[in-house]
Amino acid sequence: MTSVACGRRVRSAARAAATSCDSRAVAPPAGVRTDAQIMRHARMFAQILHETAGASPGFRTANGSSRPPILCDIHGVTAPPMTFWEEIQRYVRFDDDDRAALRALLPHARPHFRAIAEEFYARLREHPAAFRVFSGEAQIERLKGTLVQWLESLLAGPWDGDYFEQRARIGRVHVRVGLPQRYMFTAMSVIRAHLGDVVRNAYATAPDALGDAMRALEHVLDLELAVMLETYREEYVERVQRLERHALAQLEDELARSEARYMSIVESSAGLVVAADADGRIVLFNSTAERATGIDRSEALGADIAATLCAGQAADRFRARVADSATGRRVPPFDEQLATRDLGTRWVRWHLATVGRGADAITSALGIDVTEERNLARRARRAEQLASLGTLAAGLAHEIRNPLNAANLQLMLVERRLAKLDAEPARAALDAARAVRDELARLSGLVHDFLSFARPAELRVAEADLRGTVRAVCDLLAPQAAERGIQIAATLPDEPLRVRCDEERIKQVLLNLVGNAMDAARTFVAVEAVESPGDAEVVVRVVDDGAGPPDDVNIFEPFATTKEGGTGLGLPIVHRIVTDHGGTVDVTRERERTIFAVRLPRAES
Ligand code: HEM
Repeated sequence: MTSVACGRRVRSAARAAATSCDSRAVAPPAGVRTDAQIMRHARMFAQILHETAGASPGFRTANGSSRPPILCDIHGVTAPPMTFWEEIQRYVRFDDDDRAALRALLPHARPHFRAIAEEFYARLREHPAAFRVFSGEAQIERLKGTLVQWLESLLAGPWDGDYFEQRARIGRVHVRVGLPQRYMFTAMSVIRAHLGDVVRNAYATAPDALGDAMRALEHVLDLELAVMLETYREEYVERVQRLERHALAQLEDELARSEARYMSIVESSAGLVVAADADGRIVLFNSTAERATGIDRSEALGADIAATLCAGQAADRFRARVADSATGRRVPPFDEQLATRDLGTRWVRWHLATVGRGADAITSALGIDVTEERNLARRARRAEQLASLGTLAAGLAHEIRNPLNAANLQLMLVERRLAKLDAEPARAALDAARAVRDELARLSGLVHDFLSFARPAELRVAEADLRGTVRAVCDLLAPQAAERGIQIAATLPDEPLRVRCDEERIKQVLLNLVGNAMDAARTFVAVEAVESPGDAEVVVRVVDDGAGPPDDVNIFEPFATTKEGGTGLGLPIVHRIVTDHGGTVDVTRERERTIFAVRLPRAES
């Protein structure tokens, strides 16, 4: 016992020296005499030095904790990692003196273990809130036995990693049975008090040994309590993590639901909803956009927004507006023709908005199909124009026609007379008269066109097979086309293309369209007629490989001609006749070709 007490005093002195200066400069304290004592002192001293520098060999060998190791930095030296068990032992300074003192106490304490266990459970009985964790008397009897074993190992050790694991496991058992944490302190205090009595009795006459044993007991019971409480902490952390996981899962769920709700609103929108990232790549393309463009979402996602929704110069304008919106400027709503896959001409009014800035910017384009609205407005405008202009102009045209006819007649007489004269001046005059006649013919053509546009005759509707009409027009214009070195070809189905129409007027439509195509074509004009996929319409396409009309001119408006010598009424007449039949006509550019498509309602069979 004396050596233990002596050891502790030596250690305190050594620690004081070691922490104050260089360890090698510390002299053995006074009172250290025997070799054994010197060796023991040296060992302890070495350990203290290691501990103080955070490099105890014991720290490296002991394991026994699944907790992440603790790194300590003492006096600027980063020590090897310590386990939880090592760290708390180091904290209370549980050392070899303690180990020796506990082992020395064991034979004195062992006879009291049963009584301690009895008192332990008797005390618990007094506290119903603690006592209800037991399942019955049989369990309590068994547990008294396990508590005796626990006391045995408490004093016998070996207090290593396995010891710690076993203690931690017991702690987890308590957490599992739902034992409130406060009873751990109180129960430990019962054991502490009883063992304290045992120590006081055992060492009544050896005060140094008494002191060492009491200190060792305090240390080891504090370690036990720390381990027990740590298991509560583990459980608490786990519970918090479980709650966190649960809350996170709920949040993710809620997010997914809200996203699904949001998407279903976007999906069910009657408008086209398209969004693009900062590079103009499509990130959202709703089903209305799919239907309107005929482009599948899988194809649209990642593609350039402007090139997907518009073609040619319209795409450039669209791109410029997206860029404008991305800079934060408000872009007023604008109409642009939609690029569609064989779905005819659609006009869409776009509303752009950008959220976010720079690389995170997302520009959304909400599009409303305004084709009908525009058609209605145009028709109304046109009807109004025609109503006022038509009446006036038709009257004027009639007035012009009479003097024109008279002038033509007089010119014919002049020509005949000049033809009879065989003199050079007469021949020159005849040429001039012919030139005047050509001009007069052009003028009467214009009057004729104008009249058929402003005052179209009543439609004489009957069922017709459009194949015949197409063939007749192609046959009629073929010689003229051949003269100009242009190929003209008709592609027609085997089945009749039944349409209720005024065949003469539709013939005029085709004559105008094919005639125009021949004027524009470089090498060929193709006329193809088919029933549209839904069979509701018959579509006649007139295709040429010319340059196509300019984007910024509405060629179906009167006098919007871009052709030299044109009256500017050919296409408006086409438009008028087709719309009078309840059909549509539009023009598109595809792969360097101009395509005029006339759609007429199919005759009911
Ligand atoms: C310092 C205090 C305590 C010590 C040293 C201690 C020790 C032990 C030991 C060694 C076991 C056996 C574990 C096993 O290997 O399965 C055990 C189990 C148990 N202890 Fe404690 N115990 C303490 C406090 C308490 C208290 C305060 C209560 C109740 C109020 C309690 C209730 C139980 C119960 C119900 C079990 C059994 C669980 C089962 O059978 O599954 N213990 N305890």
